[in-house]
Amino acid sequence: MGTGQSATARANANIAFIKYWGNRDDRLRLPANSSLSMNLDGLHTVTTVTWDAALSEDSLTLNGQVETGAKLERVRRHLDAIRHRLGLDAHASVVSTNNFPTGAGIASSASSFAALTVAAVAAAGAQLSERELTTLARLGSGSAARSVPSGFVVWHAADRHEDSYAESIAGPDHWDLVDVIAVVSYQHKEVGSTAGHTSAHTSELQATRVEHAPQRLAECKAALLERNFDAFAEIVERDSNLMHAVMMTSRPPLFYWHPVSLDIMTQVRRWRADGLPVCYTLDAGPNVHCICTAAAADEVIARLKAMSGVDEVRAARPGGPAVVLS
Ligand code: PMV
Repeated sequence: MGTGQSATARANANIAFIKYWGNRDDRLRLPANSSLSMNLDGLHTVTTVTWDAALSEDSLTLNGQVETGAKLERVRRHLDAIRHRLGLDAHASVVSTNNFPTGAGIASSASSFAALTVAAVAAAGAQLSERELTTLARLGSGSAARSVPSGFVVWHAADRHEDSYAESIAGPDHWDLVDVIAVVSYQHKEVGSTAGHTSAHTSELQATRVEHAPQRLAECKAALLERNFDAFAEIVERDSNLMHAVMMTSRPPLFYWHPVSLDIMTQVRRWRADGLPVCYTLDAGPNVHCICTAAAADEVIARLKAMSGVDEVRAARPGGPAVVLS
């Protein structure tokens, strides 16, 4: 290949309704269970990859800052996987920006590794199927597989690399849900998800959580396809609680909730009991994703803003797939 082949891609963050926690293979990020998520429109990463035979090493610029430590190393390892797949040996320069603040409680690894994968493959001039792009993105960050397809997405657990892929089960227009994110902390989580996944099996509850995950996913998918909010809310909250029960009972234990997270969860359940269609889900951090219908979003936003301990409220509708911009 010639020098300086470049492409830019954009990928949205996503929020899981049925969570991924724990791997059957840590190296390949083959998940213990299948998961289901919604892409978040407008919360995205834009990444430009330039393959250049003249470069002596890979480089990473993240939100305008040149990175040299662990972040560069993780990107370099991901570029190795892409080089291996495409038969490349050039190094790459990677320039990436999130349009949401890093550490604002919105996971950036999903949108980052989805955008990196799609840009790196496009820059090499390779044509891979969406399915294969999701498996490659998965190697960088499991949840990144789900940020490649459009809208509402299932990522399949499997024993082999090529079988653990993600696919859209409904487009973004299927259901006008909104993820209203109550930001309660801007701090970086102490234990990231990569480390968390490797300790999930140390909780006695993980085997049970994983055993029943296919049933929960089937129920969640059915509720989503029927747009049955009550059924959807019950299963989404239960699945989040199950994941956090595993986290809290792992060795060492991982407590991601803050007191205010629990306050919000309690309020959300009350609001729903009073007829407001809203439910909660939390990832590996204290911020609370309040999933509601578009008709209820203004009310949910106003109520969350009125709560003490809520620093900021952001809202995102269902988002589209990762795309090559140029
Ligand atoms: O893709 P990772 O390794 O950042 O893991 C994501 C884990 C959770 O966000 C907690 C759950 C999920 O399914 O997104």
